[in-house]
Amino acid sequence: MNIIPNPQNFENISGSFVITDDSKIFCNAEFASQAERFRDLVNESCGFLLQFTEVIEEAQIIFSHAEEGEPESYVLMIAQGVATVTSSSPVGCFYAVETLRQILHLNEKQEQPTCANCYVKDSPKFAWRGLLVDVARHFFDVDTLKQIIDLMSQVKLNKLHLHLTDDQGFRLQIDKYPLLNDVSSVRGGSEVVKDGKRYVDDTPHSGYYTKDQIREIVAYASERNVDVIPEIDLPGHFVAALAAYPELSCARQVLEVRKTWGISKDILCAGNEQSYAFVKDVLDEVAELFPSEYVHLGGDEAPKDRWCNCKLCREKMAELKINDYDELQTYMIEIFRQYLEEKGKKVICWNDGLTSSANGEIVSQVWKSYKGSNAATHTKQGRKVIVSPFFYTYFGFPYAMTPLGKTLRLNPFKGVKPANRANVLGIEGAVWTEYIDSADKLFFHLLPRLDALAELAWSSNKTGFYKRLKPRLDYYGQAGISFNRKATKYPALRIATTRKFFRRSSDVEFNKNSKN
Ligand code: ACM
Ligand code: ZN
Repeated sequence: MNIIPNPQNFENISGSFVITDDSKIFCNAEFASQAERFRDLVNESCGFLLQFTEVIEEAQIIFSHAEEGEPESYVLMIAQGVATVTSSSPVGCFYAVETLRQILHLNEKQEQPTCANCYVKDSPKFAWRGLLVDVARHFFDVDTLKQIIDLMSQVKLNKLHLHLTDDQGFRLQIDKYPLLNDVSSVRGGSEVVKDGKRYVDDTPHSGYYTKDQIREIVAYASERNVDVIPEIDLPGHFVAALAAYPELSCARQVLEVRKTWGISKDILCAGNEQSYAFVKDVLDEVAELFPSEYVHLGGDEAPKDRWCNCKLCREKMAELKINDYDELQTYMIEIFRQYLEEKGKKVICWNDGLTSSANGEIVSQVWKSYKGSNAATHTKQGRKVIVSPFFYTYFGFPYAMTPLGKTLRLNPFKGVKPANRANVLGIEGAVWTEYIDSADKLFFHLLPRLDALAELAWSSNKTGFYKRLKPRLDYYGQAGISFNRKATKYPALRIATTRKFFRRSSDVEFNKNSKN
């Protein structure tokens, strides 16, 4: 049977199972919303609303409580005319329904859902099965995020990391600092690669999420067992905020919200007490808004040129008796880590923003391994890591550069000693959106890479991935969701196409492979 991600244990049993409009559902009270969800899926697929029964012997679909088992695990037994789901928690039951959705083809219109009898015993390989969406470089509306959450939950992904702020835009309503919305969420143009040229066009781009919209997204995600993790990237990638509040930069000069990509030397001043007060105020509102256990504080790509030339930053270094600018960043992050800890939150940082003296509680998201800062060294030091190597899991790149097969070949434990493997929380893919300016292009870059990501994060055995992927691709096609129709073919002319993407047209693959 074709299931993505591949269940841990799957056995075929002879015979088959059919749902008719006479079939009845029995569920333990704690699984009522999962059972209703299943009933709704059947209804959408076949147009009949299954009845519930309180007599278990009358039921053909049973959602039943198990005393034991990890919360995300479930057992599904389909035999002798009955499908029985058992799990110790509603999360496991939710995932069983997602498995049923796939094996009964509930995403399709049909008369009578049917599947072969089988036994599935399933649980995730990793607790952290994440996707980053960069809504700072390009803003995507609430409906697009909801669609991403739907697609994530169908393949049992559970962490949506929103990269909310960057040099090119600040995309979250902050009541205390309204200019973050009025000024920092608007830019005058964008760097594009079009018509054989790379240039800055003058089409304004803007947008931010109101607090009500965030609450809506968080609630929608929560119903689908997806946590939403906010990222406020600092001290680098902070130009959009500095454009509104220049007093927070070292040079205090007026900047514009950045229109070009890459790395800015203008970063948040670490010597100015106002910087700390400002970020704490922002974190107050972030922590209040997002129930997530984690807040991501970025920390990546923060060149220290401005700090070197800043009187306040140098005075801060003297006061702290440190002489390394990276340690000044460690100090800054630690202030905010402690602040968030008081609110019951943990911090994640990109690995290039963490020195070896950074607090051991900070989770490292490893995107770019280098000596002394990679999954092997961090896990050895006892630090928890999320694995996101850009060469495998960055989905903003063209498929010619990062083909599906490359993503699938990621070894999340590369270099990690078996004794330290428990420190690998899991895997996160990232769709950076410098060159993705529409929802259709976003889904094109994401699908079917999302399926490969789910397979990596959930399954222990990737055998038959491409065969199991076929129904997912059919579904994307039937549902009119944009996806790369050639993704399973190793891209031809990889270097030439990658060069074309970055030099001639970032639509080179999208134009060719998103249509039939
Ligand atoms: C990153 O890609 N700068 C985290
Ligand atoms: Zn400074």
